[in-house]
Amino acid sequence: MAINFIGTGRAVPSKKVSNDDLAARIDTSDEWIRSHTGIGSRYHADESVACSDLAIEAAKNALAMAAGYTGDDPAQRDSKAAEFAETIDVIILATATADFFGTPSTACIVQDKIGAKNAAAMDITAGCTGFVYGLETAAGLLCVGKERKRALVIGSEILSKMTNWEDRNTCVLFGDGAGAAVLEKTGECCDNKSGLIKTLLYADGSGRDSLVMRRGGSRSPYKKGETVDLGIWIEMNGQEVYNFAVGAMTSTIEQLIKECNINIDDISWIVPHQANARIVKAARIRLKIPAEKVYMNIEEYANTSAATIPIALDEMNRSGKLKKGDLILTVGFGGGLTYGGNIIIW
Ligand code: ACO
Repeated sequence: MAINFIGTGRAVPSKKVSNDDLAARIDTSDEWIRSHTGIGSRYHADESVACSDLAIEAAKNALAMAAGYTGDDPAQRDSKAAEFAETIDVIILATATADFFGTPSTACIVQDKIGAKNAAAMDITAGCTGFVYGLETAAGLLCVGKERKRALVIGSEILSKMTNWEDRNTCVLFGDGAGAAVLEKTGECCDNKSGLIKTLLYADGSGRDSLVMRRGGSRSPYKKGETVDLGIWIEMNGQEVYNFAVGAMTSTIEQLIKECNINIDDISWIVPHQANARIVKAARIRLKIPAEKVYMNIEEYANTSAATIPIALDEMNRSGKLKKGDLILTVGFGGGLTYGGNIIIW
């Protein structure tokens, strides 16, 4: 059996925010942000836009591609996507910035609005590793359910609304965006010749306080009459996350390579979570990986959490960088703390 990628899509809001734009609002500079993170800009959603809105756009692009349409006519895209959506059996949506806390899941909103009337739908909370977790979860559901054939996996985030704009340590890092992939199960026995070949998933909950949204959950709910002085924001211990991230990236790449009995030269592309270009570079240097093997787009999008890897895959796919048969290694890390990676044959 193979779990193949048959469509990818992405969506970002139209408003691009440069480092200089931020420097006009808070005490920072283009020089600091670029030199410490590699970020040059990010996209911010309008007030009316929620996580599901970006997810739906990315999903429609992925579904239309799966249906054979890659043109740019919106009406045709929508009609192809709607037709194909009915063939989807599972929707997994990874996010830290859901439309609503707890219920309904953002995946259910997407399921309804794209017309995936035959699909099960659920969200995954695994921080920035969410898409890596989502691929394996979807593959598992396709494998155990004989009747299930296709899955839609989405990473979508509106981090600009969950950011403390007075905290320059975090607010410059994040952006809004969504990416999606359509997976299809083919064949009956495991061939390991295409699609999702291997996934590693890990967690270290002892590091949960280093990346946390403290308010709004059952640990710290809002109380009637309370003056709200602490919003639902991401708080981060940057140094702790940095050290964790370099180790997690390095060990995941090493283990994937070892367990798949391959070496760095066999890999066409490494697609890392785009949190900080310095994190990626540190791991790359430790493992002696050439820079040109590692796909980076953080300069444009900043850190879109669960969306960074699917946005990158779609960018690479649509620009012709991914060739059939390419061996791709994804690697992610994030809130939880979580980490992991996938080996994919495109
Ligand atoms: N502009 C200007 N100065 C700043 C800014 C800013 N935006 N942010 C921090 N500084 C200052 C600090 O106040 C500090 O000043 P001080 O020395 O006078 O106190 C100085 O810069 C250095 O601060 P550090 O925290 O030591 O800077 P560092 O080099 O560690 O970089 C950073 C900080 C970029 C946050 C880094 O620690 C990092 O990338 N950590 C990991 C972040 C990450 O990956 N997060 C997301 C992972 S999970 C997910 O994606 C949700």
